[in-house]
Amino acid sequence: MPSLPTDFPQDLPADRLPALLRAMPKAELHMHIEGSLEPELIFALAQRNGVKLAYPNVEALRAAYAFTNLQSFLDIYYAGASVLLTEQDFYDMGMAYLEKAVADNVVHTEIFFDPQTHTARGVHIKHVIMGLHRACLVAEKRWGITSQLILNFLRHLSEDDAWLTLEQALPYSDYFSGVGLDSSEVGNPPEKFASVFAHCKNLGLRRVAHAGEEGPPAYIWGALDLLHAERIDHGVQAVHDAALVQRLKDERIPLTVCPLSNQKLQVFPDLADHNMPQLLAQGLVATVNSDDPAYFGGYVNDNFVQLFAATGMGVREAFQLAANSFEASFVPQERKDAWLSQLQQCFIQAARGA
Ligand code: ADE
Ligand code: ZN
Repeated sequence: MPSLPTDFPQDLPADRLPALLRAMPKAELHMHIEGSLEPELIFALAQRNGVKLAYPNVEALRAAYAFTNLQSFLDIYYAGASVLLTEQDFYDMGMAYLEKAVADNVVHTEIFFDPQTHTARGVHIKHVIMGLHRACLVAEKRWGITSQLILNFLRHLSEDDAWLTLEQALPYSDYFSGVGLDSSEVGNPPEKFASVFAHCKNLGLRRVAHAGEEGPPAYIWGALDLLHAERIDHGVQAVHDAALVQRLKDERIPLTVCPLSNQKLQVFPDLADHNMPQLLAQGLVATVNSDDPAYFGGYVNDNFVQLFAATGMGVREAFQLAANSFEASFVPQERKDAWLSQLQQCFIQAARGA
């Protein structure tokens, strides 16, 4: 397992930690592109497309972002996505996120998208996928950041709907690397999607699934055993089941954790109570991600800086989280190794006070 050089100082002066958290190279593996739509872009796209919104202006929309749980957020999130109609809209949304990710020293990102939110409104899936793909290509050329797209099925809809979505998406399968499962968790267990995920596995697609965000550890077992998920999105409820923690640790199944999301949706009402220190202490491959940055008050670096300030974690956890993000990504080992060397250089420079 990668670690800091043995002579690395136990701790940097506390005031230097936020700068290191921001500067360190990292991968972001749990970010819903529709959740990166800032209110300003929602209003600009609404005007461009002649879509009427339920809020008179940006301030009124932002003021509605007072969530009590996952469902209260999802209702507003799906309404925000209603302004997306053309390939150019998806490209613009993708570029806006990727520019912010680059500013946060994200070197690689695996971006979730929810095609059913758009196809249900008559948008062709080609516009969704090709607009996002074009943004990924341009961002790599312009800034060097690499990206993959991961198609998420909405779990509040039926498995038949997921099958139809997969069929619509397959002509564009060169442009996404995997599938995931998101939306309302409780009451929509993984077994509902077992057959479509088995088919995706046969097709060679990578698999992830939201599980254990609000739902019980049983949903994480289901994601592993029935959906063959290779990563668990959120997964913070795993700590309530010792056998599950052991399995996640033994099999090095990563958890893509989203601290500000967990706080805003009241999974942990106070960031100081977040269980990230416990997940890392138990040897789990936990990572930090932004989930829906435009709705939860911050992009990935805001998640790092606020989480560390609230929990008192230090430089070793910072290194571990960035190293975990590379290990958890769906790229060949050589690229992970190169990023790890970059990460080590960044920490060595920080220790020298550079
Ligand atoms: N879709 C967007 N954000 C989500 C989350 N945090 N949980 C489930 N579905 C989502
Ligand atoms: Zn999510």
